[in-house]
Amino acid sequence: MSSKPPIILAVDTSDLHIAQNWVKATVGLISAVKLGLEFFTACGPEGVKRIQGEFGVDLFLDLKLHDIPTTVSKATLEVSLLKPKFLTVHASGGSKMITAAVNSAPAVDITAVTILTSLGKEDLVEIGFSQPPMASAAKLALLAKSAGARAIVCSPQESATIREAVGPEITIITPGVRPQGFGSDDQERVMTARDAILAGADYLVVGRPITSFWKDGESAMREAANRFAMELTQ
Ligand code: C5P
Repeated sequence: MSSKPPIILAVDTSDLHIAQNWVKATVGLISAVKLGLEFFTACGPEGVKRIQGEFGVDLFLDLKLHDIPTTVSKATLEVSLLKPKFLTVHASGGSKMITAAVNSAPAVDITAVTILTSLGKEDLVEIGFSQPPMASAAKLALLAKSAGARAIVCSPQESATIREAVGPEITIITPGVRPQGFGSDDQERVMTARDAILAGADYLVVGRPITSFWKDGESAMREAANRFAMELTQ
């Protein structure tokens, strides 16, 4: 994955045809495609295989698994047949659950989601977390590393703190990336691609700043992906 720009395209659609078009428009300018719950619940493993078969792209399978260790272990084993590069689980599922996923799919980078960026301080108190988002995310990242996770998803604002906590060998992946002047959509706290990498991220998950250009055609979307690639190689 290292020779391509460190962009993971968020393919947030339930429509296989749209997903195929988006990947076709950006292939070569991205390191992997992120297929998540929206795509997976609509198109299933067969849809994932279609994307992989047509474009040969690396897969970030964003299923955010969170259940008892046995169930997560069995689900991980099933989806490991799709050979994702990354598979997400919730770090708050605990060490036993994370280790169960790691043991079921040793070839997959089990990727722990720390604190969802949609949760603020009050939300965390509501669900029983005593520390604010940054401290909670760093704590969960360390727990996930000890349990065998090889990658962490966190907000760009947390990545410097988390990098310091987990060291250089863990892959850090951050969403919430926006070019200057693009607007933030529903993302609360955003960073430019370059700043996110400087803050310690290895890969950036980018969706709408690229996919929203599809309405203007394939070359407009490719151009948007290329602008990110250029920003990261400057
Ligand atoms: O369109 P946008 O660039 O905001 O997409 C970001 C992607 O990253 C979406 O698929 C979103 O679900 C995901 N994500 C996020 N914040 C997190 C975890 C995942 O935005 N904390």
